[in-house]
Amino acid sequence: MKLGKVTTLTDNTQPPFKRPPGKTDDNDLPREPAAPGNIEHDRAALIGDPRNDENLIVAQLHVAFLKAHNALVAQGLSFNDASRTLRQHYQHIVVHDFLKRIAEPAVVDDIVSHGNRWFNPAAEPFRMPLEFSFAGYRLGHTMVRAAYNFNLNFNLHGGVPASLGLLFTFTALSGEVGDFKTIPENWIIEWENVIGTGPNVSNARRLDTNIATKDDEALFGLRTLTGETETPPDAARLPVRNLLRGYRMRLPTGQAVAHLLDLPVLSKDEVLAAAGDAKQVAALTAGGFESRTPLWYYVLAEAAHFHNGQRLGPVGSTLVAEVLIGLVRRSQDSILRQAGWKPHLPAAKAGTFELADLLRFAGVLGGTAPKPRTYKVKKGDTLAGIAKAELGNADRWPQIYLLNRAIIRNPNQIFPGQVLALPPTTPVGTIPKLYTVKKNDTLSSIAKAQLGSASKWPAIFKANRDVIDDPDRIIPGQILVIPEKG
Ligand code: HEM
Repeated sequence: MKLGKVTTLTDNTQPPFKRPPGKTDDNDLPREPAAPGNIEHDRAALIGDPRNDENLIVAQLHVAFLKAHNALVAQGLSFNDASRTLRQHYQHIVVHDFLKRIAEPAVVDDIVSHGNRWFNPAAEPFRMPLEFSFAGYRLGHTMVRAAYNFNLNFNLHGGVPASLGLLFTFTALSGEVGDFKTIPENWIIEWENVIGTGPNVSNARRLDTNIATKDDEALFGLRTLTGETETPPDAARLPVRNLLRGYRMRLPTGQAVAHLLDLPVLSKDEVLAAAGDAKQVAALTAGGFESRTPLWYYVLAEAAHFHNGQRLGPVGSTLVAEVLIGLVRRSQDSILRQAGWKPHLPAAKAGTFELADLLRFAGVLGGTAPKPRTYKVKKGDTLAGIAKAELGNADRWPQIYLLNRAIIRNPNQIFPGQVLALPPTTPVGTIPKLYTVKKNDTLSSIAKAQLGSASKWPAIFKANRDVIDDPDRIIPGQILVIPEKG
């Protein structure tokens, strides 16, 4: 997958303009060129969903996913197999890392083992429950901090704090990349600051009924896409928007949802005890909201009450876990529809796979991506023999061949002393199908014979770009990989 290049600054020797050590140019999302006045296309990130370029932490996370994909391809996986492997490991992270941190693990395990009870992921038409999008999942609004440790330039230990305002500036969707063509090199993230357990890591705020800071521009001075502050003033305040949305959507109260789900219901006193300050207590009592609590506020009060803000309570856990697990169930190649699926990429703790493992695999956290294993060819070796000895399956020889196409011309001819890269030992993806080009073959005729339609030739071209320069020139004897689906 193509990465974007960061912009080099003219004076980049001192913070806050320094490039973090060890970071290459390939650290931005791929972008469209500048197109002043054209909000939709101006430096827009060329990714599946441009909303992932809304703030720098999410944008840099997307960069990490592109790098993880490329690391899988470098280990010999086809584009499709790399996508599937990454998607499935991401699903695992959502369920077993993210959800088990923010929700009650017993609720997560129950939905994984016994199925969804309240949210039907197979329903058509498919809809997102309002209780999730207008209340439960807006839990994130209390988790965000006003400023983060981001890298050696932007941090809370002597640098310029990476405020929410700045994090939203260096993206195309919210801030015109700070008027650079691509993100400047001093804004490459150092994930060691954001994830893990070190002293300088910015953890999420606790889940409670308060929002980062009352005067924060980013949360209380919301802007439109064209940069004007939202009006009237209440429309610019994120918590007010959340409460009004819930009201206008006629969401049930927190207590009503707890009753329906047959979960413990917070008493009036418990809701009041979870209130952030005296003003909140006054507003709750004035409106009778301590017994008919808006669902978003209730979910936060519940997290504060049951878990001291460390994770969601029973109602919040159910709303969020039902939907996210349901989405994973519905996803392409779902790990929850594949009995016995286990993560198999390198992890700090065998048998698990967390976001930190993915970032390490992508080469953006704690050093570089793991190097592929290699094998030095001995006299009498064949690719099938190496596949059997090293991968446990002689049939996997095409995977070794494809990984080393740059140095193997003919799979029947390998030479002692040649060093071959090996694919991962755990089988990932299907074994590629190979085809030897014959006289008078064209990509169209091969596509017709192998994929059932001549018009599918571009798929073969794409899968063999490393050995075909011109689609009209293929050479008898050349070995091509035939993609699974055209
Ligand atoms: C600095 C951080 C953030 C800002 C400035 C922000 C801002 C916003 C705004 C302006 C809306 C639309 C509000 C409305 O008109 O009703 C919104 C919606 C939402 N936000 Fe955030 N948000 C932030 C972080 C988060 C996080 C971390 C999460 C979850 C983990 C989250 C979850 C949601 C959800 C679920 C919605 C509703 C989306 C929908 O209607 O489909 N937000 N946010």
